[in-house]
Parts: sequence; structure tokens; C-alpha cells
Amino acid sequence: METKVWLVDKNVDNLQSYPQIIESAELLGANQVVAFPTETVYGLGANAKSDEAVKKVFEAKGRPSDNPLIVHIASKEQLIEIVEEIPKKAWKLMAEFWPGPLTLIMKRKPGQLSNIVTAGLDTVAVRMPNHPIALSLIKASGLPIAAPSANTSGKPSPTSAKHVEDDLVGRIAGIVDGGVTGVGVESTVLDCTVDVPVILRPGGVTFEQIEAVIGTVKQDVALKHKDAAPKAPGMKYTHYAPKAPLFLVKGNQAFLQKLVNEKRSDGLKVGVISSTEHQHEYEADYVIAPGSLADLHTVAAGLYDTLRQFDALDADIIFSEMFPESGIGVAVMNRLVKAAGHQTIEGDL
Ligand code: TXA
Ligand code: MG
Repeated sequence: METKVWLVDKNVDNLQSYPQIIESAELLGANQVVAFPTETVYGLGANAKSDEAVKKVFEAKGRPSDNPLIVHIASKEQLIEIVEEIPKKAWKLMAEFWPGPLTLIMKRKPGQLSNIVTAGLDTVAVRMPNHPIALSLIKASGLPIAAPSANTSGKPSPTSAKHVEDDLVGRIAGIVDGGVTGVGVESTVLDCTVDVPVILRPGGVTFEQIEAVIGTVKQDVALKHKDAAPKAPGMKYTHYAPKAPLFLVKGNQAFLQKLVNEKRSDGLKVGVISSTEHQHEYEADYVIAPGSLADLHTVAAGLYDTLRQFDALDADIIFSEMFPESGIGVAVMNRLVKAAGHQTIEGDL
């Protein structure tokens, strides 16, 4: 299949009537699959009402069929069409964070969406993305759009159209190239079907931000205990792993350098994931810094590109610094720990 690529400037007025947006929206209406940018990562969009369209998403990604998709909407009216009831706390969160990187899980209304979207669950995950291209594409299509991250299953999520092309060219109808995304890690997934909402996946909206609006929230126990079964089916799969084995290093720079030296003296090519602050202190074959300790949003924004860059290099092993687990750092560390398959080395020099 030929994959069309439309270059679209997200800052122009009236995007909804832009020929590229209209053409890509028409493809969505014809049950084809189109990738588009959101503020978090690129999504792989399909008509959420159509089994035929949604099946194509699972096929293109190689995604297990028990892993439900997030439905993307552009208005509250669209939400009311697809969910049975909207809890009070969900209204408050929407007022504060939508459009934005917060996905809310609610009871689905039967008969409105393809059952494949929700993997047979009686709940649906919904979000309104904060990106002019995503919003205008959804509006132009007039449809709720099911969209997982636009990567091959298991790979880091795409933060540029190039990443999407690398994974999916020839397998999908089109890609709307709107430049690099901003947040860099995916949305926070919050289960609102229970009295005390539960964070199933940390992401762009932090724990602290959510608690400031609705009071106490819980975190899925599986986020801290690697052997517990997660409530978001997607959280149980291996994710984000680069080809070379990755180890997280809990310790100072001298200790990390010692690990690098040992592997290099064994003849291995060694990569380091560093903060920009420490980037020039390491001597290794490759040192890549996704961002700065002084602003963890920059680390989130650069993380997946860093992991993908290592795949293009011939590193045999990668050591990564740890980042503070506060604010957006919780999501950063959640993804890094997964990418490393929980392999951590601890020490100081
Ligand atoms: O930022 C994002 O959320 C991006 C952009 C494209 O919007 N999308 C994204 O989708 O990350 P995906 O499919 O890669 O991750 C969706 C996560 C999965 O872990 C999935 O299992 C979970 O949300 N999920 C979806 N529906 C659910 C439901 N009804 N109950 C529990 N978890 C659900
Ligand atoms: Mg994903």
C-alpha cells in the first residue's frame, strides 16, 4: 500500500478546511488508517465505529487484540454519545485538563463503538487531544477516532512523522506530518469508574495536578510491583525496549563510568543515556542526552527519540542515568524501567 504523507503547518488558521486535512479525514471516513500528531505522541487513527477500520489498526501495529484503544474526540457532544454516564469527578477533570494529555476511563454506551476498540470491556478510554491538527482532523471526519500510539507494538512511541514512517510505511494509508510532538510521553490514563479514581498509566498530567482538582487518587499497584497484573491491559506488555540491552544505573556518574569502562575493555560498544548536565562527563562510544534535570519536561520530550537513536547505532549495551520521580519524572521513569525490562544496577564510587 502506498502511504501518503501530508505536510501540515499546525499554526495556520482554519485547519479544518485545509485540503490535506480534508483528504485525510475522507480516508478516515472510508475506514482507512491515518497517523496524525497529538500533543503527546503520534496516534494511529481509525473510525472508532467501524470493526473494519479498527481491525486495520491492530494489524498495522501487530497489537494484541486484548489491548483496547483510546477514543479521541473533539467535543463534549461526542463524549456524551459514547459513554453511559459521566461521573462528577470526570467533569471536573475535563474542565481543567481537556483538551490535554489525560485519558479518562468511563462506562461505555452499548452499540456506539466497535467492540474491537474496547477489546470487549464494558468501559472505554477517552481523551480530547490538545493539538490543532488532531482536533481539526477529528472534526473534519465527524467521527470518534480510535488511536493507539503510531508505533509497531513494543517499540517506543513516535514523537515525529519520521518515527511513524520508520515503523509503518507501506502498512497504512497516510501520515499527517505536523512536526515533532510536545509532551513526548503518552497521556495519563485514569480509571473514573470507581469512587476513588485510579491512575493506570502515569503520563502528561501528573498525579499532583489530578489530586489538586479532585482530591485523593490511587495508583494501580502494578505500577510499583512488577509481578502484579495491571488494570490497563497495555501495561502488561514489554514496551519501548531498544535492541541493545539497557540497564538503569542508580548511583553517581563515576560509578556509571566504571560500568562503561568494564564493558569497553571487553570490546563492547557502549551507549549512555545522560542528562544534559552530565553529558560531557562520560567517555563512551555514544552519549545521548534526552533533556535536562532542571526541567524534566525536556527529558520526557526527548526520551523516545533517544531510545530510537540507539537502535540506529550499533551499541552492544546501554547504561542510563535515573531521573527524579517527581512530576512528569514519574512517567519518564515508568517508561525507562519498562525499556530496561526492570534491569537496575546500584552502586556509588
Ligand atoms: O497519549 C496517548 O495516550 C497516545 C496518543 C496517540 O493519544 N495514545 C496512546 O494509546 O498511548 P495506546 O493505545 O498506546 O495506550 C492506551 C493505553 C493502553 O495501556 C491500554 O491498555 C489502556 O490505555 N486502555 C485503553 N482502554 C482501556 C480500558 N477501557 N480500560 C483500561 N485500560 C485501557
Ligand atoms: Mg502505545
